[in-house]
Order: sequence, then structure tokens, then C-alpha cells
Amino acid sequence: MKKLFIAIALMVSVFRSMADEGMWLPLLLGQQVYSDMVKRGLKLTKDQLYHINKASIKDAIIIFNGGCTGEIVSNEGLIFTNHHCGYDAIARASSVTNNYLKDGFYAKSKGEEIPSEGMYVEFLLKIEDVTKEIDEAAKDATGADRIGKVNAAVAEVNKRYSDAAKNIIARVSPLFKGNQFLVFVYQRYTDIRLAGAPAESIGKFGGDTDNWEWPRHTGDFSVFRVYAAADGQPAAYATSNIPLKPKYSLPVSIKGIKDGDYAMIYGYPGGTNRYESSYGVKQKIDISNPTLVKLRDMRLKYMFEQMKNDPAIKLQLASDYASIANYWKFFDGETKQLVKYDIYDKKKTSEAKFQDWANGKPEYQTIFKDWGAAYDAWRPYSKHQVYLNEGIFGSPLLAFASSLQQVENAIVKKGSSSDIKKAMDAAAEARTEFLKEENKTSDQQIVATVLMMYYNDVDKSQHPIGFYESLKGSYGDLKEEATYKKFAANVFNNTMIFDEGKWKAFATNPDATVLQADPAYATASAFVKNWVGKYLPQSQQFNARNAELGRLYLKGILNMDTVKAKKMYPDATFTMRVSYGNVKSYQPRDAVKYDYVTTLSGVLEKYKPGDYEFDLPAKLLELARKKDYGQYADPVRKDLVVGFITTNDITGGNSGSPVIDANGNLIGLAFDGNYEALSHKIAFDPVYNRTICVDVRYVLWCIDKLGGASNIIKELKLVK
Ligand code: ARG
Repeated sequence: MKKLFIAIALMVSVFRSMADEGMWLPLLLGQQVYSDMVKRGLKLTKDQLYHINKASIKDAIIIFNGGCTGEIVSNEGLIFTNHHCGYDAIARASSVTNNYLKDGFYAKSKGEEIPSEGMYVEFLLKIEDVTKEIDEAAKDATGADRIGKVNAAVAEVNKRYSDAAKNIIARVSPLFKGNQFLVFVYQRYTDIRLAGAPAESIGKFGGDTDNWEWPRHTGDFSVFRVYAAADGQPAAYATSNIPLKPKYSLPVSIKGIKDGDYAMIYGYPGGTNRYESSYGVKQKIDISNPTLVKLRDMRLKYMFEQMKNDPAIKLQLASDYASIANYWKFFDGETKQLVKYDIYDKKKTSEAKFQDWANGKPEYQTIFKDWGAAYDAWRPYSKHQVYLNEGIFGSPLLAFASSLQQVENAIVKKGSSSDIKKAMDAAAEARTEFLKEENKTSDQQIVATVLMMYYNDVDKSQHPIGFYESLKGSYGDLKEEATYKKFAANVFNNTMIFDEGKWKAFATNPDATVLQADPAYATASAFVKNWVGKYLPQSQQFNARNAELGRLYLKGILNMDTVKAKKMYPDATFTMRVSYGNVKSYQPRDAVKYDYVTTLSGVLEKYKPGDYEFDLPAKLLELARKKDYGQYADPVRKDLVVGFITTNDITGGNSGSPVIDANGNLIGLAFDGNYEALSHKIAFDPVYNRTICVDVRYVLWCIDKLGGASNIIKELKLVK
């Protein structure tokens, strides 16, 4: 095993071939990768990129609220991230009368900043290799046994490296599909305040129509600030807290960019699976993606109908809607690109090559036969699983109702009354949150439609026993929409979840038969219990097997002589990575060439007054028509540059990441990937892949000229 690590370390540091693919661990940036960065234009030393003791760029890069990236841009803890990363906080800070989501918001002084309850950021303190320890603990174990042992060892490491008193949190990340384990140690700050955001018509300009696509004209940024106790340590929100004095903050360049310029992106790419098997690709294309897309399509349609004409409902559902829609379009596009680029066939080809190498090696030689068998066993249930996660749980009511199983368990297990009370209290709290976000009209339509789709789509032999029979008995023909509508109406009209009186009576005297008779709970639990009882074990078994074979496959690849000459970087695991490339135009299809920048003039071209996605604030129109770009104007274009594209390798989680020039200055914020390369989680396309960025000059123009927040501009280290 030890040899393998040396091999990994060597490959990470020595080999690199294809342009711009790669999400590199800054800690393991070998000389070869670094030299290549220099060759491409980088002017910084390795220590300036990442250093464990001295302040380096890595100290300015943060995990933003658990799913995005942010960067520190002033020595008073000012944060830039995407608008879509701050979206939920902006929506929560808004009301119909003070509608910051709609109108934008800029704090003109620190006192005006809005605390974002529940939000947090994390700074990376250090990374250490703990592979030996984990491997030792799991040695020779396989399957579920191995998973259990690895998990226990990981928990042990996490505990040892964490320090609750200082809000220090360690998380082990398995790299190369569990062939290497690194522990990442973070410090978490929880007093985060909203300092600025453009109107949604700028921050989400182009909406879902333009999402995942270039040319793009979105001002996808928002501004926050991290606060600390007087001693600089993390502290819960308090008026006495002070802006955090960071170890490092990024200077901001308004000098502009040219095609071919060096560009580097630091951040937290969430997940890729570049060594997915051909079986996995096929499963995605044939079953998982289309099923998810179909279910989300339906949910979005009902939500949108309620949101479009009512500002209060729009605010209530906006954030959920945006995230459902984001990956609805992603998975639809992913399928199309996987098919277009023949990724399945390409996987088959590399697997055949691997098989040639594996023949005669007992550890590896049956890998694809085994993998195929694992998928064959799992395939009949895979659609059902999507139906549960994206269908049944796609109804907020059914998702909440199913959480009441904790209460049922506490009652029927004859838990002590304090156990029951604890479960009941948690349920009451969750219910309050649920009711705040609940739109009954759309949810009731979702329930009716999901139940009908499930009936038609999921193999009848897998249906919960008796559910549809009794539905038919009481509500009518299972082929008729009306049947499901009547049923859903009954659920919504009679569940105690919406009825204060019934809920109170139940909370005072929790009784299992009352809960089981509740139509929302009965519906949710029919589907969940059916799944958990009959199919969850198969799902767990498949996952364990798939993970084991994936680990073996990668181990083999790392040991194959022919591949050693190729670059290796670990799949994204929401750990800090750096990717480098260039600002670059491209040709998406025959006879079409895409420029590498978009401009404010282009924003005006897309403008549609009153449109849900392409409307604009009056003030923007006024300044744009006057060509009032101030110091942010682009000298070459004689316009305001709004967006640009680079060849960098990023993925979801990188949202909000700084795009950094050759000298270490911030030039933009990454916020999206392009449609032509939406297969990127599985296969990076060296020709078409682009990262879509908002130019920092547009960000500053919005803050300064539109928002009048010169206080924010004054804090930055501007490079002119
Ligand atoms: N596709 C972007 C990402 O995943 C999110 C863009 C948000 N905008 C939107 N219209 N949904 O990072």
C-alpha cells in the first residue's frame, strides 16, 4: 500500500498533459504543475500560492456557508461571493415592503449590515495525510465491514483534530476514491452579515434561460462580512463583535483582461466522478437523469405558477425554486452532452484497455464482470430510488411528514416519556420551520401528480402493498388525474400538520394510532417504509460494492504503467483546489464563434421590460445609456465588461470562487459552467470546457455607481 502513495504523490507532482484539466490540491502542487503554471503566465512563487505558516492566497479563500466558495477582499473581513450563494440569506432578509432580493441592498456603514442567522464561513488551517492510519484500521476488510471500519477511523481522526472550544472542525476527505485520505482542518466563523447585493434582475439576470450558458450577462455577486470576537476568535453574533482581521486578503485589479491571459481559480469544487464506470454512465443516461428531470419539471411548474404573480410567495419559494431549477437544467444538459460526446463508448474503450492490463492479475481481472453484475442487480430499483428522493420527498409536506417517524419510533418503542417529549419537541420545531416555507397550493398539486407518476412509472411489484388498492377503493380509477387530486385534497384538508387544534392535541398526548391515521403521515410512511424495508438494503449493498470496485479500479489505474505518464489529480470532494488556465474564446459549433467577454451593451440587448428573467433596474438603464462606466470602463471595448470565460476546470461548489490573475489579483468571480461541457463531472472536455465569470469591474460598478456604496470600494486594495 505504501508504494501506492508514493506513486500517487509522484503522479500528482510530476505528470500533466492535457491543457487545463485538473483540480489540484494546493498542498500537493508538485514542481511540474507549478512550472506549468509559470509557463502559462503565473508570476507568483509557490509559497505565495500556499504556505502553511506564512500568509498566502489560500488564507483568503473560504468555504461559504457549506456549499459555495468566497474570498476575503479587505483587511476588515469583507467577503465577495456569488449572488446565488447569498440568495437564501438575501431572501430571508427581505420582506414584501423591504424587498432586498428585488431591489438590491447596500450597507452604507457597518452598522447597516444585516446579520445572517445560521450562516457560516470556514477558513482552512491545515491539511495532513492520514492514509496510513485509516488503512491500518480497515486492513483486509471488504464491503460493509470495510465501510464501517473506515468510518470509525475517520471519526476518530476528525475528533482528534477538532477543537470545539475554538470552533475548529476537522473533516477527513477520501481522495482517489478512498486510495488516499487527507484531513482538512478548518476554523468556522458564524457571525456573518450581509453587506451588499445587487437587485435580483442583475444578480440573476437571464434566470434559468441563460443558466449554464454563455454568452452570459449576469452580475452574480453579493457582499458579506465576517465578524469575530475582540481577540479574533469565532463568536456567535453579538453587537460587540468586530470585523475579522484576516491573515490575507486579495487585491482587486481593474486593469482588465485580454484573450489568452493567465487565470487561476481557487475554491471548493463539490464533486466530480471522472473515473465513473461505463455502467454508471449508462445508468445516469438511461434512468437517473431523465427521471430526476421529469420529476423536477413537474415540481417547478407548480411552484412557478404560484410565484409568478404573488411577491410574498415568490420570496417564500425563491431560494428552493432556484436550487431545484439549477440542477434540473444541469442534469438535463449533462445527459445530452454525455450522449453527444459518446462518453459511454469512451469509457468502454478505457475499460477494455484496463482489462488487457488486468488479465492475469487476480486482484483486478474480474473487476468489470463484477461491476456489471452489481449494476444488473441494482438497476431494477434505481428508478424507484429517484422517485422517493425527488418525488415523494419532492413534496415538502410528505418530506416533513416522513420526519415524524422519529415520533412514531419513540412511541412504539415504548421509549421513556422524556424520549417521546424530545422527539415531539424536535418535530414541533421542524414543523414551525416547515410551515414558514410551505405553499399549500403548489404542494397539493405536487402530491397529486407525484402519486400518479409513481403509479405509472415505478414497477408495480415495488409499490407499497395496499396503498393504490385502497386509493382506488376510496377515490376512483387510478388512470384518472381526478382520483389523485381528490386524494391529495383529502390529505391537505385533514392532516393535523396544518391544523393547530389537532396538532396541539397530538403534541399533548402523542399517540401512535393517531399519527398512523393521519393522512399525510400515512401516505409518506407507506412509501418510506416500503423502501426502507425492502429496497434500502439493496441500495446499501450496491453502494458498498460500487465504492469498492471504484476504489479498486482507481488503484489499478494508479499502478498501470501506461497511465503513469499521465496527469492525475483527485476527483473533487469539496476540498480546496486550484485550477489554472487562460481567458479564452471558443467555437461552440460550426460557424459560430463566442467572444471571451460580454458587455453592458449586451445586457441592454437582452433587456425585456417586465420580463421575469430579463428585466433591469431603471438606474442601470439610465447609467448604461449615458455610458457612465467611471473608472471601470474597458479601454479596448469602450464599454463595461460584464462577464468573461476561462478554460479552468471547476464544478458546483466553486461558485463564488475568485478568478485570480498572474500577479495574484482578483479579476472576477466564477459562477457557472457552459452548456457545451455539462458532461464535466464525468468527463472534462478540453476543447469546449469553459468557466463563466463575472468581471470584477462590473461588480465594483454595481456597488459603486448603482449602489452608491463607495464605503465598500474604499476598503479594497485596488490595482489600477
Ligand atoms: N449554474 C450556477 C451554478 O450551479 C448557478 C447559477 C444561478 N443562477 C440561476 N439562474 N439559477 O453554480
